[in-house]
Amino acid sequence: MKLTLFSSILLMVTLVANNVQAASIYAGKSKAAAVCSQCHSIKALSADAPFPSLAGQNQDYLKKALKEYRDKTRVSDIMNAIAGSLTDRDINNIAAYYSQLKTE
Ligand code: HEC
Repeated sequence: MKLTLFSSILLMVTLVANNVQAASIYAGKSKAAAVCSQCHSIKALSADAPFPSLAGQNQDYLKKALKEYRDKTRVSDIMNAIAGSLTDRDINNIAAYYSQLKTE
């Protein structure tokens, strides 16, 4: 009985710790699914040429690109409008999510 209680607590701690680690990827995932995937798709290479593929892209590159779109140092009517509403946290989450995806 004592052992069962101990292992349940251990399991809970492990689950919580995993959740904390995965949180930003999870948040990035829902944002990507709701917004970005309409043009960039998720895992597959983007179907249409004007939409560059993001899956597996370098994390720092994604962050840099999104910040440049946000402050309009990189110009694209579409991406300037979309990145304009992203917070630093959104950008970090989305970059974390897309960079760890494997392309198929
Ligand atoms: C309405 C379509 C559309 C949506 C929605 C969209 N994008 Fe884009 N995105 C584009 C287009 C078009 C480009 C190419 C712009 C250019 O030439 O710089 C682009 C370029 C990018 C790039 C640069 C890629 C590279 O290889 O340099 C990144 C990063 C990016 N988008 C991220 C995102 C993220 C993250 C989201 C969701 C928050 C998103 N986009 C939503 C159309 C879209």
